[in-house]
Amino acid sequence: MTERRRLIAGNWKMNGLMADGLARAKALRTRAVRTRRALPDIAICPPATLLAPVAKLLAGSPLALGAQDCHAADKGAHTGDIAAPMLAELGCRYVIVGHSERRTNHRETDQQVKAKAESVLRAGMTAIVCLGERAEERKAGRHLQVIGGQLDQSLPAEATAENTVIAYEPVWAIGTGLTPTPADIEEAHRHLAGRLPGPIRILYGGSANAANAKALLGTPGVDGLLVGGASLDPEAFWSMVLAAA
Ligand code: PGA
Repeated sequence: MTERRRLIAGNWKMNGLMADGLARAKALRTRAVRTRRALPDIAICPPATLLAPVAKLLAGSPLALGAQDCHAADKGAHTGDIAAPMLAELGCRYVIVGHSERRTNHRETDQQVKAKAESVLRAGMTAIVCLGERAEERKAGRHLQVIGGQLDQSLPAEATAENTVIAYEPVWAIGTGLTPTPADIEEAHRHLAGRLPGPIRILYGGSANAANAKALLGTPGVDGLLVGGASLDPEAFWSMVLAAA
């Protein structure tokens, strides 16, 4: 099997006014340029308002820029939305699509997530396609069926290991401090990997932090982490990057 580079992605969600966000990005850039070790792939996904200034800050550093969402169309009458080519033009390399907060708060369906992911690929970026079961689905023993269905329905037709990353994020683990057992994560990742057309990376997300990063990354089938809350603290996020190095 070819060597799979790990990816550590920080999703800042709707956090950070300008001064705050720039300070956080600078702190990460400083750590990245000083580090002598071989680093994993690293993506920083700030809110849309910070993408342009953070892009400038990260230019020439090992830190890639990512966005948290995009519209499925390349342009048009979609007030308030942002198209993938606009994100690519700013220097984004990744776009998160189908995050559970968007699936819940904006009622995004698998079909919409797939259309968004396809627009990300058309714009030459990498889609981070999120999926994961809810607590009641796991309790009912339906988690594998649910995530397998989400994957089948939301994976872009043109997905390859170069242009697509999957993030397995159990909804009940996001922002709760709860994480699945290593055996549960391994089971989910194995189930997803078996349905993928090639060696597409599968990240784990949901209450990943500096304390549990090593164990999560040591779980078979985990190719990296999608980090929410802990990515707001440069110290914590960087220790997670080093745990993947
Ligand atoms: P969390 O969020 O790390 O704060 O649980 C993860 C995510 O939503 O991607």
